[in-house]
Amino acid sequence: PAEKPLAGRHVVVTAGPTHEPIDPVRYIANRSSGRQGFAIAEAAARAGARVTLVAGPVGLPDPPGVTVRRIETARDMLAAVEAALPADIAVFAAAVADWRPAEAASLKIKKDGSGKVPPLAMSENPDILSTIAHRTDLRPGLVIGFAAETNDVLANAEAKLARKGCDVIVANDVSAGTGVMGGTENTVHLVTKDGIEHWPKLPKDEVGTRLVGWIADRIGKS
Ligand code: C5P
Repeated sequence: PAEKPLAGRHVVVTAGPTHEPIDPVRYIANRSSGRQGFAIAEAAARAGARVTLVAGPVGLPDPPGVTVRRIETARDMLAAVEAALPADIAVFAAAVADWRPAEAASLKIKKDGSGKVPPLAMSENPDILSTIAHRTDLRPGLVIGFAAETNDVLANAEAKLARKGCDVIVANDVSAGTGVMGGTENTVHLVTKDGIEHWPKLPKDEVGTRLVGWIADRIGKS
């Protein structure tokens, strides 16, 4: 039925930032609110899908009808996504930390009065989108990534589409002054191998609803 176009489908969505511990009380994070990913998960559930939302630390309530797995780090997020497979559609809206402190201290790091600053060695986090998109087993039929860029938005998105192995990149400009990071509105461009669709500035809820509609159309044709 037209009003439940994703009935029988499993959709996995990632959302929010990740927190990468430095010590028991400190962490590295970013300004992601999780709003866009939560809106997509909620819209997918309204469209009849079974939805697993893997969310980093955000202050948003569970969307109705969505199974929410709350995690903290990028590595936890990857494990939760893998545990949720198989899925028909995966949407990676999370702002995953690219790096983490190589070793989280087990005790709070103290100032010793010498004026020396602690070195912070970093390790690269797994790329969840790329890992899932390049899987040879259990790759979701439609893999959608996001590209939050501050410059050369479309060129970067096209490069990312190829590098990450996904089917769609939803590109948005998050430069200072756009108010996108942490805000309620978003201007996105859908980049596929067939071209680019420019969408107007919309509330994030509306971007979620339209993206789910776009997914349903595309799945319907496959
Ligand atoms: O490379 P960049 O971080 O700009 O790519 C953004 C896309 O990749 C988003 O869809 C994001 O959720 C995903 N990503 C990921 N794991 C990472 C880094 C990014 O899934 N470690």
